[in-house]
Amino acid sequence: MLSVENLVVSVRRGPEIVRDVSFEIAPGEILGLVGESGSGKSMTSLALMGLLSPGIDITGGAVRLDGTDITHLQPHQRVARNCGKVAMIFQEPMTSLNPVLRIREQLEEAINVHDPRAGPERARELLDMVRIPDAGHQLNAYPHELSGGMRQRVMIAIALACRPQVLIADEPTTALDVTVQRQVLGLIRELCDSLHMGVLFITHDLGVVAQLADRVAVMYAGKLCERADVGPLFRAPLHPYTNGLLACLPDPESGNAAFETIPGAAPRPGAIPEGCPFSPRCNRAQETCRSGPVPEAHGPERQVAVCHFPVRQEAPA
Ligand SMILES: Nc1ncnc2c1ncn2[C@@H]1O[C@H](COP(=O)(O)OP(=O)(O)OP(=O)(O)O)[C@@H](O)[C@H]1O
Ligand SMILES: [Mg+2]
Repeated sequence: MLSVENLVVSVRRGPEIVRDVSFEIAPGEILGLVGESGSGKSMTSLALMGLLSPGIDITGGAVRLDGTDITHLQPHQRVARNCGKVAMIFQEPMTSLNPVLRIREQLEEAINVHDPRAGPERARELLDMVRIPDAGHQLNAYPHELSGGMRQRVMIAIALACRPQVLIADEPTTALDVTVQRQVLGLIRELCDSLHMGVLFITHDLGVVAQLADRVAVMYAGKLCERADVGPLFRAPLHPYTNGLLACLPDPESGNAAFETIPGAAPRPGAIPEGCPFSPRCNRAQETCRSGPVPEAHGPERQVAVCHFPVRQEAPA
């Protein structure tokens, strides 16, 4: 079980980028993390990996994995202590794969770090796990010889080399066409179930979340504004921002693309307005939203934040 409690990530001598974020992911569960560009999704995931760049620090809160505090452990410390096994895949596999090394060499490198006693069949086994056909042959390929979908599968295989308890996927399918995207999402679901792995799936695409995730966390300006099971969140969002995001979805019934957008732009870290950070763009906002503190979560358990005038008062059963 991954537990993130009141996580704060800040630029040194600068603003907070992630502000008081809390969530949990159980084994075998997929949590979708959605929010506009710049809302802090990638910073949250890099913090969980222990991979924040120099000059950016975790300045509050805690990250625990199966009860072990991994908040300030870097990847090599996690390997040495055999704890905190969180792996990550990114949007563009070509930037993470080494173009001059065969797939076999790249897999073996990862296996050597995490599983030095594994036999030579482990690389093949990992490719089989991600359903790469003809794995024996593909082991000798170079990345450019594979399609985008196959490269993403290789990245997943490399991520699985550490036998992660949690897999973070940061927009892993945005660069793929729709059919291949669906296959990769299916694979992630399958691995999550069969390996009892928690998955944090980051995306702009609420359609993907609806298809894949068990639960959703919606991020705005570094904070979570709503957290819920997928069904209730799509049927009956509580926070006006979630409501706005859903209104931007294309409508499959009418076949129409959505033209609605939430007016304005999300604030940048360091320039976050007083009161509710969404209030300048919110059509429900009143004076109290712009000045006073936002209300703490109360009432329905699913509502994390923190809205004076939620779209609905109660989460439906
Ligand atoms: N090195 C840095 N120094 C200062 N601010 C940074 C740095 N890197 C990122 N930021 C800021 O942190 C905020 C959160 O960035 P992050 O990459 O987490 O957003 P995101 O939600 O992943 O967006 P996207 O959907 O575009 O990937 C952004 O406003 C960004 O400008
Ligand atoms: Mg990002």
